[in-house]
Amino acid sequence: MAIFVHYLSILLISAVIFLLLRAYRLRLLRLPPGNLGLPFVGETLQLISAYKTENPEPFIDERAKRHGSVFTTHVFGEPTVFSADPETNRFILQNEGKLFECSYPGSISNLLGKHSLLLMKGNLHKRMHSLTMSFANSSIIKDQLLVDIDRLIRLNLDSWTDRILLMEAAKKITFELAVKQLMSFDPGEWSESLRKHYVLVIEGFFTVPLPLFSATYRRAIKARREVAGALSKIVKERREEYEKGERKNDMLGALLGGEWEEDQLSNEQIVDFMVALLVAGYETTSTIMTLAVKFLTQTPLALAQLKEEHDGIRLKKSGSEGLQWSDYKSMPFTQCVINETLRVANIISGVFRRTVTDVNIKGYTIPKGWKVFASFRAVHLDHDHFKDARTFNPWRWKNNNLGTSCSGNFYTPFGGGPRLCPGYELARVEISVFLHHLVTQFSWVPAEEDKLVFFPTTRTQKRFPINLQRRR
Ligand code: HEM
Repeated sequence: MAIFVHYLSILLISAVIFLLLRAYRLRLLRLPPGNLGLPFVGETLQLISAYKTENPEPFIDERAKRHGSVFTTHVFGEPTVFSADPETNRFILQNEGKLFECSYPGSISNLLGKHSLLLMKGNLHKRMHSLTMSFANSSIIKDQLLVDIDRLIRLNLDSWTDRILLMEAAKKITFELAVKQLMSFDPGEWSESLRKHYVLVIEGFFTVPLPLFSATYRRAIKARREVAGALSKIVKERREEYEKGERKNDMLGALLGGEWEEDQLSNEQIVDFMVALLVAGYETTSTIMTLAVKFLTQTPLALAQLKEEHDGIRLKKSGSEGLQWSDYKSMPFTQCVINETLRVANIISGVFRRTVTDVNIKGYTIPKGWKVFASFRAVHLDHDHFKDARTFNPWRWKNNNLGTSCSGNFYTPFGGGPRLCPGYELARVEISVFLHHLVTQFSWVPAEEDKLVFFPTTRTQKRFPINLQRRR
C-alpha cells in the first residue's frame, strides 16, 4: 500500500511539473491572440450554436474583428488556431506532410479505416493520391465515365414522382455513380443495400466515438463491418478474376493491377481505400447538387439563364441522345452556378490539420501538436475578397478564368497542396450533367420552407422537398 501511495505521489508530482512546464513554455511563445473560453468545453457551444443556424458567420467574424484573421480558440476538446486568412490557409495546405498533418476526429478515423487515402501519410499517400487523380482526370471522364454519368442520372430522373426529397434523390445518384466508377456495378439491390449501411456509417462520423455511450456510433461500427464485408467479397472475386487474366477498366482494376502488380495492396488496404472514396464523393457532390437547385430556385434570373443554356444544348440533339464532352464544355453559365454554390455553401467549410512541430506564422507561433482550422468559408465570404460576398451571384464568375481551376488563395473549395481533392473535375461534371437533365426535363417549386444549416454538416433541415412537373 505504502509503495502504491509513493508511486501515485511521484506520478502526480510529475504530472503537475509537466503541466507547469508546458504552461510556462506556452507563455514564452507568442500564440495567436484569442480566447480559450471555459475550461474543457472552451468555445465549442458557441461554435455549435452558430453553425446550427443559417448564418454561422458571426462566430468567425466577431473573433476575427477582435483578434485578427488568425486567432486561437478552444473547440472540441482542444486549443485550435482558426485561420480566416487566405495566405495562412495556403501555407497550411502547401505544408501538409511537412509542418502539418491531416487530423480527423476519432469517430471519423475509426470508421474510415486506417488505410483510407484521407488518413494516409508519406509516400504511400503520394502514390495513392496520384492514382486517384489519374482515375478521375478529364480524359478518363471524357472517354470512359461521362457516358455512364449521363445514363445513370437520366435513369434516376426517369423514376422521379411529382414530389421528392431532392437531397435524398441526389445522394442516391452520387452513390450509384461512385459504385459504378469504382467497381463497374450498375444500380440494383446490392448497391441500394450497401448505401443503406453507408448512411449509418456516415451518421457515426458526428458522434462521440465511444460505443458504450452512443447507440449511433455502435450502429455505425456494425454498418462499417457490413460495408467492409460486402466490399471484401467483391475485391476477393475480382482479384481471382485478375489472376486469371480478366481485366476491368475501373478504379478497382487500377488498384489490383498496373503499377501495383509488383507491390500488391492487400484486400484490407483496397477495402479501406474504397470505403473512403465512396464517402469523399458521395455526400459532397450530392449536397452541392441540392444547394445549387436551392439557390437557383431563390434566384429566378439565374435559373432562367441556366435553362436557356441547357435548352440550347438539347435543341441540337435528337430526343434521348446522350451528352458529349463538347456539350459539357459549352456550359459556361453552369460553371458559374457551380462555382458560386461552392463559394457560398461548400460542404467542406475548411480543413483541420495538426502541427508536427512549432510553426511560425505571421509573427505568431503555433505550438507542436496543436490543431489548426483553415477556414475556406471565412475567406469565400469575406467582403475584402469578394464583392457582396454574402450574396449568391453566379454572374461574378462570368469573366473569371478561375472558373474551372482550383488554384488561387481566395477560392479553394477543393482544398489545395498534396491533398487537393482528386475528384474536383469529376464532381463538376456530375453536377453539370445533373443540372442539364433537371432543368431540361422539369420545373419545380419548393414543397415546404426549408432551412440551410451548417452543423454537423452543411445541409437543409428537411432534405429540400420539391414538387416537380415534367416539361413538355
Ligand atoms: C463538390 C464535391 C466535392 C468537394 C466540395 C470536395 C472537396 C474536397 C476537399 C476540400 C478536400 C481536401 C481535404 C483536405 O485537404 O483534408 C477533398 C479531398 C478528397 N476528395 Fe473531394 N470533394 C468533392 C468531390 C469529390 C469526389 C467526386 C471524389 C471522388 C473521387 C472526391 C475524392 C476526394 C478524396 C479521395 C480526397 C482525399 C484526398 C487526400 O487526402 O489526399 N471528392 N475533397
